[in-house]
Amino acid sequence: MARITEQYSCQTCSSSYRKWQGKCDTCGEWNSIVEEAVKDAVPKGLSTGKGRKIEFTSLDTDTSVHVRHLCGIAELDLVLGGGFVPGSSILIGGDPGIGKSTILLQAVGIMAKRGHRCTYISGEEATQQISMRARRLGLADSPVLLAAANSLRDIITSIEKAQAPDLLIIDSIQTMYADNIESAPGSVSQVRACSQELIRLAKKVGCALMLVGHVTKDGQIAGPRVLEHMVDTVLYFEGDRGHQFRILRAVKNRFGATDEIGVFEMTDKGLSEVSNPSSLFLSNQDREISGASVFAGMEGTRPLLVEIQGLVAPSQQATPRRAVVGWDSSRLAMILAVLDSRCGLSLSGMEVYLNVAGGLRVQEPAADLAVAAALVSSISDIPVPENSIIFGEIGLSGEVRAVGQTDARLKEAAKLGFTAAIIPKGSKVNEPTLKIIEVEHLSEIVRLFTGNKPDQQVQGS
Ligand code: TYD
Ligand code: MG
Repeated sequence: MARITEQYSCQTCSSSYRKWQGKCDTCGEWNSIVEEAVKDAVPKGLSTGKGRKIEFTSLDTDTSVHVRHLCGIAELDLVLGGGFVPGSSILIGGDPGIGKSTILLQAVGIMAKRGHRCTYISGEEATQQISMRARRLGLADSPVLLAAANSLRDIITSIEKAQAPDLLIIDSIQTMYADNIESAPGSVSQVRACSQELIRLAKKVGCALMLVGHVTKDGQIAGPRVLEHMVDTVLYFEGDRGHQFRILRAVKNRFGATDEIGVFEMTDKGLSEVSNPSSLFLSNQDREISGASVFAGMEGTRPLLVEIQGLVAPSQQATPRRAVVGWDSSRLAMILAVLDSRCGLSLSGMEVYLNVAGGLRVQEPAADLAVAAALVSSISDIPVPENSIIFGEIGLSGEVRAVGQTDARLKEAAKLGFTAAIIPKGSKVNEPTLKIIEVEHLSEIVRLFTGNKPDQQVQGS
């Protein structure tokens, strides 16, 4: 029989310790180490034991079993890389109330209506609450198998005994409880054991498994980091509570491209797909204002136009504020340094604010040039040329570097009625409808806004 031992493990990173301590040495988190009773996982003498011989095959095995199930929500199918793969496991994380349960209920509702067997097991809500939500979403008549349960043993027994579903939803993995482990639901060892068992079950019966995961205060999926390694796909559902739209982002996908996003809007009838997301992130383009530029970005395979707003204001403080929403603040510091030392535009006495409109988070370095344009435009109070989009990466010497997928970016801009594009020199352009302005160095952008005076000094009062 396996030996029971006491151990202390970190609830954030799952490192284990012999003794309790206040701070985890591995992840640096305070007060995250709790006592857990665990069964000794590795029995002695494994190398000398008699194992079963494994069968080897070639790379060219039959893949016809991997016929995907489309869920009918096009944005979700896109993020998954073309629907659910039977036997695969997907982890979806996101802030509370962002809409994880809603989108999954919509997915099972639509799939079940199309004749797939779908099971939705909630450990958080009672079946009445879920039915009420389904009614609101117009899916109450869908033949979904719904249950409220927490016990892993019961769930496994029920799934194994009945006809296997095509899609199994577990909402959420932190509420599941394996009775062979003596720690509370949501603890590292419970989350790890429950996920392992459920993933094994999904592979065995050939159903796609979707696990909902809570996130910690810094936005990571709560529980052991290994959870993300165990599953095939990790999705994050993000969005700003203040905004209506939600973004579903794949950060890991064994069956499709990562960095693919799906855009949804939260309405009173659940989440609706947004087929033209660029229009969401652009404010009213009718009048020209200084300090705003339109960045033609890429999110996975999809082009997305976003408005970047910059504000530069004189500061009375010794250390002027730099505040960034939706972009990397160290990248902003780099652009300010390049503007200062390579273009002679010092912002040392100024407060700098940067905002990506609509609450989107931009991660591409290609946004550098758009950020610089918004800032310089704000300083000079000269608007960015009308109806133009902008993209390009800025190097430390101020050079503007070409970025990938120029064609897709320009096509999207042309489609949305833009007429000009400020892009890195040497980019290959196949878009005759746009007036192309090529830039080689950041100082050309500065010159564009300050009327041929690249050495103008801007100082705080
Ligand atoms: P929910 O799916 O319960 O979030 P999670 O499972 O990620 O915690 O999110 C529900 C939120 O969405 C809640 O604040 C209410 C809102 N909502 C709508 O605005 N419209 C709707 O049709 C539904 C079902 C929810
Ligand atoms: Mg929920």
